[in-house]
Amino acid sequence: MVKMLQCLVVLVSLVVSVHGLDNGLALTPPMGWMSWERFRCNIDCKNQPNDCIGEKLFMDMADRMVEDGFKDAGYEYVNIDDCWASKERDSAGKLQADPDRFPSGIKKLADYVHSRGLKLGIYNDFGTKTCGGYPGSLGHLEVDAKTFAEWGVDMLKMDGCYADVKTMPQGYPNMTKALNATGRPILFSCSWPDYERASKIQPDYKLIAKNCNIWRNYIDIQDSWDSVLKIIDYYAQEQDTLAAVSAPGSFNDPDMLIIGDFSLSVEQAKAQMAMWSILAAPMLMSNDLRTISPEFREILLNKEVIQINQDPSGKMGKRVMQTQSHMEVWTRELSSNALAAVIFSRSQSAPAIFETTLENLKFPTTSKGYSVFDVTDNKPLGNYALNETLSFIVNPSGAVMFKATPIA
Ligand SMILES: *[C@@H]1O[C@H](CO)[C@@H](O)[C@H](O)[C@H]1NC(C)=O
Ligand SMILES: *[C@@H]1O[C@H](CO)[C@@H](O)[C@H](O)[C@H]1NC(C)=O
Repeated sequence: MVKMLQCLVVLVSLVVSVHGLDNGLALTPPMGWMSWERFRCNIDCKNQPNDCIGEKLFMDMADRMVEDGFKDAGYEYVNIDDCWASKERDSAGKLQADPDRFPSGIKKLADYVHSRGLKLGIYNDFGTKTCGGYPGSLGHLEVDAKTFAEWGVDMLKMDGCYADVKTMPQGYPNMTKALNATGRPILFSCSWPDYERASKIQPDYKLIAKNCNIWRNYIDIQDSWDSVLKIIDYYAQEQDTLAAVSAPGSFNDPDMLIIGDFSLSVEQAKAQMAMWSILAAPMLMSNDLRTISPEFREILLNKEVIQINQDPSGKMGKRVMQTQSHMEVWTRELSSNALAAVIFSRSQSAPAIFETTLENLKFPTTSKGYSVFDVTDNKPLGNYALNETLSFIVNPSGAVMFKATPIA
């Protein structure tokens, strides 16, 4: 028995190490909050004290995450993006936070975030400068990794502005090693494949998945539905390549959730949530949790949709069908032989009926069919044989998501 257990442990650890970066992190897509899309590089704390990149913003968001149910729903990381640093390194060559906007320093902020049961993320850049013009990490990888670890940082997003793209396949893994050498597990988010794509270089996703927990591969999300659609198009176009490397420890990152910002309608917000869930994407909100309206909060807290996103299989869904009426169906394999599907509408018309069978969607044969649950609206739809017709009403630029579990 002990032998068998030992065997199992070895097998399980082998399986895990074959997949992503071996730091024990991001076994399911990371969830949290990130400043960039909503707050950008706003450093004007004089005129916008509540909205500038400073310690108050991150403490406020940590408080909201704990007190408004986000932490309980699984959101964990509070991530500082660009523009946090002082324009100069200190006399020892270390990065330092802007002293006016982060008067207590990053270590104190990390302590605060940890005291609330959350984790802190930070941002640097592989090149000579960050995209916002702050000091880059080129030539400073080891010291920067050490500094972040000393501060108690739990996640690092490394951007790729002001850098030679051709050196990234060697340079990003150098940072992976530097982070590992600190002894502190730090979730590593790489922008490397996005810069390769922009330079028309085919990313080596196997190498990327070995060195990064999550990675951006397409342009930054903006506060617009059109931007969401473009990202989904890119994921559809590249789905075989991207799905092949999605696994526990390593996930494609289509960028932040913009739910609760200025542009998405309630239907569009449900659609982004459903699509990010089916893609096994990191769920990093970029919004103002202090003022978000209840209908958007509810979408972000949809436990069933989150559970599908967090399914331990780590598999990325794919688009399996497109119709003349501007609907598409995406499906994802889950653990325990269950499957999830999103019926996603690009229609600009009226709510429309969509009918299909599970057979049409290529769900595997089961002896007794599937029990089907509408996770968008949180209601059971009943039991269905493979060839029985399922019928949905899908709103324009909206989505319906369902889960199908084989009947035992
Ligand atoms: C990566 O590290 C190796 C070994 O220290 C070094 O020779 C190489 O120049 C580094 N590459 C980059 C792009 O930082
Ligand atoms: C460093 O890498 C080793 C080997 O891949 C791994 O076992 C260990 O957990 C890593 N440590 C950290 C802190 O990431």
